[in-house]
Amino acid sequence: MEKLLALEMVYVTEMAAIASARVMGRGDRMGADRLATEAMRRAMDEIEMQGTIVIGEGERDEAPMLYIGEEVGLAGVDAPAIDIAVDPLEGTNLVATGSANAITVLAASERGGLVHAPDTYLEKLCVGPGAAGKVDIRLPPAENVRLVAEALGRRTGDITVIILDRPRHADLIAEVRGTGARIKLISDGDLSAAISCAVQGTGVHAVMGIGGAPEGVITAAAMRCLGGEIQARFKYRSDDERARGERMGHGDESRIYRTEDLASGENLVFAATGVTPGDLLEGVRFFGGGARTHSLVMAYQTKTVRFVDTVHMFDRDSPPRVRL
Ligand code: FBP
Repeated sequence: MEKLLALEMVYVTEMAAIASARVMGRGDRMGADRLATEAMRRAMDEIEMQGTIVIGEGERDEAPMLYIGEEVGLAGVDAPAIDIAVDPLEGTNLVATGSANAITVLAASERGGLVHAPDTYLEKLCVGPGAAGKVDIRLPPAENVRLVAEALGRRTGDITVIILDRPRHADLIAEVRGTGARIKLISDGDLSAAISCAVQGTGVHAVMGIGGAPEGVITAAAMRCLGGEIQARFKYRSDDERARGERMGHGDESRIYRTEDLASGENLVFAATGVTPGDLLEGVRFFGGGARTHSLVMAYQTKTVRFVDTVHMFDRDSPPRVRL
């Protein structure tokens, strides 16, 4: 099931990427997100599955589609029951301004394999396979930088940490700077940043700080596939959020969620497609009669990590010439 599902899911992120890339640089973040969401929804309905959105664009009353609890897919009687966490467009601002690293992304698993996280914040610590099991989010950030360096056999000055550039991270940034580590401050996109730190050759070794909880769950699915690690704890912004979190079983803000807690599935699939050019993935490239996309699709059970380069021919009557 997982092998087929992986290829079907990458089709979903490809369709969403093509749709939102069309409006790159128009300053319309909501429009880009809407196009990605609509395309994702349409593509999911072509897949033989009884899919349920467990992380999506919000609750039913606040999102016209891909809301939490929405059913997707061609639900035949024998179709597998799948839970799906989507971030139709990670980096809505990045597409609006034509900046790097926007992706369309989702994770899927057998029923119950992904945590149902409220749309709030998580404090996150993400590392790649080399430092997995060696860090602890309860320690001061400087200590974790030192542990990452030790695990990777480097000096702290040769470690690069990605942090979302937000006022709430002023102390974190100062502390990491104090270790001598290099920092890449990003305007958006801590999910794609986390994947980068689990892929050798990107020059990124850890992601630290507070970002979206839904992104954290999808990150966990990617980390399971890549052998990296995410540790996280909920950070509520208001009493309302806290109450919602409590109702969903996440009332204890001191609880540390590990990778397997957030994405416990055994049949996990992760798919992401570049919308704008990024550190890990190319953006969508349009040409006469078609487009080319670059995606990452991973399956936990089959231990496969594929980079998929796809040419989409929009016009079969005058097909584009496929180039290397
Ligand atoms: P969207 O583009 O999906 O809205 O999210 C981008 C993002 O930067 C995430 O990568 C990150 O987890 C979150 O927003 C951070 O939230 P905030 O902008 O509120 O700090």
